[in-house]
Amino acid sequence: MSEVQQIDRDKLGLFVKQTGGMVAAGFNCAISLVGDRLGLFKELAANGPYDSEGLAGALGLQERWVREWLHHQACIGQVEYDAATATFAMSPEAAAVLAQPEHPAFLMGAYESAVAVFPAVEKLADAFRTGLGMSYDDHGPNCACGIEQMGAFTKQQRLVPELIPMIPGMRERLQAGAKVADVGCGGALSTIAMAQAFPNSTFIGYDTSTVALDRARANVAEAGLANIALLNPMDEPLSAQGQFDLVTTFDVVHDTPYPDRLIADIFASLSAADGYWLCEDIKGFESFSENHSQHPLAALLYGFSVTICMSSGLSTPDGAGLGTLGFTRNMAESMGLAAGFTGFQHLEVDNPMNNYYLFSKTE
Ligand SMILES: C[S@@+](CC[C@H](N)C(=O)[O-])C[C@H]1O[C@@H](n2cnc3c(N)ncnc32)[C@H](O)[C@@H]1O
Repeated sequence: MSEVQQIDRDKLGLFVKQTGGMVAAGFNCAISLVGDRLGLFKELAANGPYDSEGLAGALGLQERWVREWLHHQACIGQVEYDAATATFAMSPEAAAVLAQPEHPAFLMGAYESAVAVFPAVEKLADAFRTGLGMSYDDHGPNCACGIEQMGAFTKQQRLVPELIPMIPGMRERLQAGAKVADVGCGGALSTIAMAQAFPNSTFIGYDTSTVALDRARANVAEAGLANIALLNPMDEPLSAQGQFDLVTTFDVVHDTPYPDRLIADIFASLSAADGYWLCEDIKGFESFSENHSQHPLAALLYGFSVTICMSSGLSTPDGAGLGTLGFTRNMAESMGLAAGFTGFQHLEVDNPMNNYYLFSKTE
């Protein structure tokens, strides 16, 4: 009773409202994915404003279901409601984030991954007791697809024109014919973008996940490329393929159970004098305090971490479990130097989510 009396009723009301918003956001992940699957966002963005009958009619859907979907989306603020005309519309910004896969701000992949981990609640609770996390494959194909979608813009639109030219002499070497390993390739969007741009070079996409490799095989087949091979490094280690001119990793090191071994393997697989490792990893501060007070995406990224990234990094009994924000700039530099790299550069790339590091064997 005394505890109840100490509660500030105004603050309690605010907290309940805030928490209710979190739960609404949880429902919104599933409801927005339905909207994505059915084309509701795309239709509304392209041809809105619509009332529920108009939107349902345009897509051949049941009006009652579309009406309730619109009511939820309007109340959560992803869709605009005009009470005078009883119609719904999307702002250009909402359209970019929710309806335009080719836009850099498109975030439907994050919804996909978030919903994919909902069934993992019991297993994750177990992980807190045993310490052993879930692997990428444990979360199934939708989680991998969501991650693939989230990173698609950088791989398809920025990697070849913007990032490769930052590596001294690399564009010319790739044009002439070089050997590249894309480690932790996931759905191989990065491998495909490079292989399309540099047909004289050969590319090997490595991934330890069966789900990722299946996805990569399908994407490579669709792209119709003959200069990509896909391998699981647990069957065929990097070094078995000789020396590479370039190794790339896109959001892999913070996820992998043994980052030190991965970096050592990358170092050993690179050609002696002029090999480079281009490493994309998550942008964050060096300390939790800074992430807590200054990182605009910290809550989202720690959410990814508990359910997917740290979990994957702890999916073996002695895994490092760095976590989504755990491979910081300073850690990248010190782990790279410890593995034998002598050159380290933090590349200047404008990206709110990722940092880019370039490692070399000469300074
Ligand atoms: C966050 S996903 C990124 C996938 C892809 N690079 C992208 O950006 O879309 C990390 C990937 O790294 C893979 N991975 C983790 N550790 C690995 C290792 N030691 N060797 C190869 N792949 C690894 C995982 O299976 C997963 O597919």
